[in-house]
Amino acid sequence: MSQIEHHDYDVIVIGAGGAGLRAAIEAKGRGLKVALVCKSLLGKAHTVMAEGGVAAAMGNVYAEDNWKVHFRDTMRGGKMLNHWRMAQLHAQESPDRVQELEGWGALFDRTKDGKILQRDFGGHRYARLAHVGDRTGLELIRTLQQRAVSMDIDVFMECKVVRLTTDNDGAVTGAVAYWRPTGEFVTFGAKSIVLATGGVGKSWKFTSNSWESTGDGHAIAMWAGASLIDMECVQFHPTGMVWPLSVRGILVTEGVRGDGGVLRNSDGKRFMFDYVADMFRAETAESEDEADRWYDDHTAGRRPPELLPRDEVARSINTEVKAGRGSPHGGVFLDIASRRTADDIRKRLPSMYHQFMELAGVDITREAMEVGPTCHYIMGGVQVDPDTAATSVPGLYAAGEVAGGMHGSNRLGGNSLSDLIVFGRRAGIAAADRAENLRQPSLSESQVTEYVDEALAPFTRESGENPYDLQHELQELMQANVGIIRTESELVEALEKLEVLKERAANVAVGGGRVYNPGWNLATDLPSMLTVSTCTAQGARDRRESRGGQTREDFPKADPELGKVNFVQRQSSGRGFSSEITITPEPLPVMPDELMAIFEEESK
Ligand code: FUM
Repeated sequence: MSQIEHHDYDVIVIGAGGAGLRAAIEAKGRGLKVALVCKSLLGKAHTVMAEGGVAAAMGNVYAEDNWKVHFRDTMRGGKMLNHWRMAQLHAQESPDRVQELEGWGALFDRTKDGKILQRDFGGHRYARLAHVGDRTGLELIRTLQQRAVSMDIDVFMECKVVRLTTDNDGAVTGAVAYWRPTGEFVTFGAKSIVLATGGVGKSWKFTSNSWESTGDGHAIAMWAGASLIDMECVQFHPTGMVWPLSVRGILVTEGVRGDGGVLRNSDGKRFMFDYVADMFRAETAESEDEADRWYDDHTAGRRPPELLPRDEVARSINTEVKAGRGSPHGGVFLDIASRRTADDIRKRLPSMYHQFMELAGVDITREAMEVGPTCHYIMGGVQVDPDTAATSVPGLYAAGEVAGGMHGSNRLGGNSLSDLIVFGRRAGIAAADRAENLRQPSLSESQVTEYVDEALAPFTRESGENPYDLQHELQELMQANVGIIRTESELVEALEKLEVLKERAANVAVGGGRVYNPGWNLATDLPSMLTVSTCTAQGARDRRESRGGQTREDFPKADPELGKVNFVQRQSSGRGFSSEITITPEPLPVMPDELMAIFEEESK
């Protein structure tokens, strides 16, 4: 082990999106020795894909907004599968976290009287998303990054963690990683580790996620003994670009609909009026006139159906396309041009204007966009304690998209940025608390050797599978069989094929050296992608109901009994890519009576 670069820290944070940065800031603020380790460049995180805003009941646009309504909206949006305590903390604490961001230099758009401006988004009763045009995630990252850098937090970027190390009691002791630029290994000893590695979207063909989102955190947590919950709950954002094919999946912010954009099919019909579920009927407009009046005078009346939660809108688009009423390239039309002035569009949605102009040659101030569902987010994730973000592995914490529970079976737009800062901070506090009371652990040499050898194995094979072929086949499979609408037979087939892909992945061969070798880098991502995809397919098979992001064609209704359980996945024996994953339904935590009373009161 002596020849491997080694660093000891009190706390290491893996992942440098919003949750990771916020956790690192908190732990460093306690005077601890903290490192941020990220496999991409600092600042390049999926956080920037939350464009339209950060949800927080600040009441700047509607004075009647408050945490209780936000809590209600979040639980209802998640179809009650959320961990109630996470939804409560999130709703209560997000206004302070947004104010804090402003104090650290975030430049939010303003109301006429100088408060932080808040915009409408799907499933939120009131205009609640503090935003910076359509670049809110970017501003959040910029602000947190500037603060982290000013605090002298050590940053290891382009450094990919392949495994966590543990002691005899199962507690984490550190991590094994390699530098992408050199291919050299580096180990970290840590008293506490915060996982903030984001999502899994790169296992699907059409996704808003970039190359980093390969489920590394989910997988290394599970391999170290943590449990995952509700991995079947994957969010397909209703509006991704569908054309040109080379950019299919890139996000079109919900802010377009929040600012008045409407969805039409090939007949020019605003089809969303046909898809209002009973749960949302009372507060959804019934006619175009009614919906347009709401946009015009911006009262908290009945909202347009384009602002239903994402799962509802994505399914409706899917149905229209399947029924042959789609746009020429397999989506539907999103029209803001006829709803807002060109100046307004360029001011409020500058990135969307630029994105369509540059990538599709479409001027959104004059023409409708073609959009369709894109894999955007996973609600399932590492099971955590709501107050501390602690996983079941001592010393291991998880925050942000990698953690499960907060969003139930469907996340409301804007709730991810607030999730990152609320639970990133909480994870940082808890990780620091633990680290303050511990001695520096040492890493097991045999574990380090095993994990280094495992990562280097693709170089030792003279011939074998090509990692790009496997990635391609995985993406096709997940898109076709574990996509927005699922059936038992397709899921069973997916699981069988995933087993074959796993066997083939154990025989991946790569050539060349270790310096910036993207084939090898992908070979080290494949075990995570396949582990997480298996979890999603298993959960989707066993949750025989439709709820939020999990839609079963063969079980089209929600099953009240399944609404009472999380599907929890663990590795029963052995640790690692090839070990078996078990899945068990476990009762949801019971919401206390006083919160249930709030939920019911706010739902009237
Ligand atoms: O549509 C969006 O701007 C995405 C926001 C989110 O995922 O929270």
